[in-house]
Amino acid sequence: MTDKRFKRTLVTCALPYANGPVHIGHLAGVYVPADIYVRYLRLRGEDVLYVCGSDEHGVPITIKARQQGCSPQDIVDKYHALIKDSFEALGIHFDIYGRTSSEVHRRNASAFFRKLYDEGKFVTRESEQYYDPEAKTFLADRYIVGTCPKCGNPAAYGDQCEKCGSTLSPEELIDPRSKLSGAQPVKKKTTHWYLPLQDYEPWLREWILEGHKEWRPNVYGRVKSWLDGGLQPRAVTRDLDWGVPVPVEGAEGKVLYVWFDAPIGYISNTQELLPDSWEKWWKSPDTKLVHFIGKDNIVFHCIVFPAMLKAYGDGYILPENVPANEFLNLEGDKISTSRGWAVWAHEYLHDFPGKEDVMRYVLTANAPQTQDNDFSWKDFQTRNNSELVAIFGNFVNRALVLTHKYFGGRVPAPGTLLDSDRETLAEVPALAASLARNIEEYKFREAQRDAMSIARLGNKYISDSEPWKVAKEDLARTGTILNVCLQLCADLALAFEPFTPFAAAKLRKMLDVELNWDALGSAEILPEGHQLGEPELLFAKIEDDAIQAQLDRLARIRAEKEAEAAAEQARQVAPQKPEISFEQFDAMDIRTATVLEAERVPKTDKLLKLTIDTGIDRRTIVSGIAEYYSPEQMLGKQICILANLAPRTIRGIVSQGMILMAKQGDGSMRFITPQEVLANGAQIG
Ligand code: MF3
Ligand code: ZN
Repeated sequence: MTDKRFKRTLVTCALPYANGPVHIGHLAGVYVPADIYVRYLRLRGEDVLYVCGSDEHGVPITIKARQQGCSPQDIVDKYHALIKDSFEALGIHFDIYGRTSSEVHRRNASAFFRKLYDEGKFVTRESEQYYDPEAKTFLADRYIVGTCPKCGNPAAYGDQCEKCGSTLSPEELIDPRSKLSGAQPVKKKTTHWYLPLQDYEPWLREWILEGHKEWRPNVYGRVKSWLDGGLQPRAVTRDLDWGVPVPVEGAEGKVLYVWFDAPIGYISNTQELLPDSWEKWWKSPDTKLVHFIGKDNIVFHCIVFPAMLKAYGDGYILPENVPANEFLNLEGDKISTSRGWAVWAHEYLHDFPGKEDVMRYVLTANAPQTQDNDFSWKDFQTRNNSELVAIFGNFVNRALVLTHKYFGGRVPAPGTLLDSDRETLAEVPALAASLARNIEEYKFREAQRDAMSIARLGNKYISDSEPWKVAKEDLARTGTILNVCLQLCADLALAFEPFTPFAAAKLRKMLDVELNWDALGSAEILPEGHQLGEPELLFAKIEDDAIQAQLDRLARIRAEKEAEAAAEQARQVAPQKPEISFEQFDAMDIRTATVLEAERVPKTDKLLKLTIDTGIDRRTIVSGIAEYYSPEQMLGKQICILANLAPRTIRGIVSQGMILMAKQGDGSMRFITPQEVLANGAQIG
């Protein structure tokens, strides 16, 4: 075992919520790194169990079901299948991909709760929660809508305003309403069970802050700040009708909180797969447990779930590491499911068939390991074309094609190795060791760079040695060079297996050889005379139009969102002005008039000079409407004016009156025109 302290490794990936497809942020943060880790350990011949599944409870799933007029079960059935298939297609093969709506899990989570309950590990608390008197149900914060006290958004949620980003509580909403019935929610007393996290604080400090200083600084730092902030009792039940029922008499209408049941799902899924031997994976100190998650899951995996397991006792092990990632942005903006700002796994697989490795490679190259990172389609194209194709693919292709050309596809004799040949081969073990160390330290980006360094090494070696030229004079030397190249190809098939498993498998097939990690860097992986398979291209260039199509799609999403935001702005209504008297109103002489001439006021952007027929006279008005109307657009239009406004001189022109304009929430203006053409000078009032 690479880590001598253990006999086996249990790898879990955060259970995705089955209420939407997975996107590249999920892949980069959790599933691709976990898969690299698992593939690597398997390559080293280790005993690994790889567990994931759907997280099928929680309020958002019930909201989505309501919106779509179906049951929560319909929602989770749909997305469970979609997500599972996407993972499979990307080469992410879990040993089990379970579901928290399964019977095994329901029983298991229920029993877990019951044991803690029976042993008095919970405290109960009564609190006041919002209740919908019409729908006769308690309301999760998300189910309450009202006006945001910070920005006036009339559709803010009880936990958050999506317009201004403020975190809210339902109490803060102005005019709160139930999303279910529209009724005004009332406060009602309810009782819930809480896990007194504060009791576990000294133990958590000891275990993580003292015992795991090697954890990633972003993970360690978040845990420390939670602990320093002081832990509070945490509710583990909810008033909801979707979830695992609370197995206690008198708890009708209550379910386990989704964050209580979901991590137990890791255990349930293991039980489902290995009903007789699951305990060795969860209760043996010989097992190394590693949780792969995104940063928003840190508190649950480092504090809440460990405290649950500690409370439970019975020999459950704790994670040896929790290599949580930060977030991946898309083209410079935060990925947002609700805004559609994402690259969905299933859509990618559809748009780029056969390019599963490319996405894996690019997400690893930009892995948000210690800070948020960005995905861009241009970078995706460049990494494919100038790294995978031009370095890795190109080297392998040259080595294999030339071997077929000069030696009928048989591995040529190594002959006499020159120093340069030996030196090239000798670089591989160090790169392989670095790759291994980096993976074992969860530095996947760096590890992939090591693999690419082996490809660079080969590509440079073949370019420098020019076997195609040497072949004209010295076929034996050509054989030596190609022999070295082929050994490097075998190294690449091993080194890239965790990162680009499809290409690695293709390469293995072309080399037609059993590979073994310990042979990395050896000059004799492929014996002389060994017959190779047919060469195939490992990677293909990605053309501009494929990238442009993706950029266009994102541009459309951005434009739609901007148009929506602008329309929303325009709908904003300015508050009413202070009251005036009838006399003040009546003093204003408002009339119809027609524009006879219109021109821009020179050296200004905003002003038009209009000559108008007021019915009383012809006069000049200077108006700040050039931003909204061209002179041509104004010509001949009937407008309304305030005729008796004191004349003002604007840019040297005397303006006699003012055009009536409607100003919208976004500041844009439109002139007011009578519904039908009237005589000029008609009095308005
Ligand atoms: N569904 C959660 C999320 O997507 C992750 C649950 S992880 C588990 O954020 F441990 F609770 F299973
Ligand atoms: Zn707001």
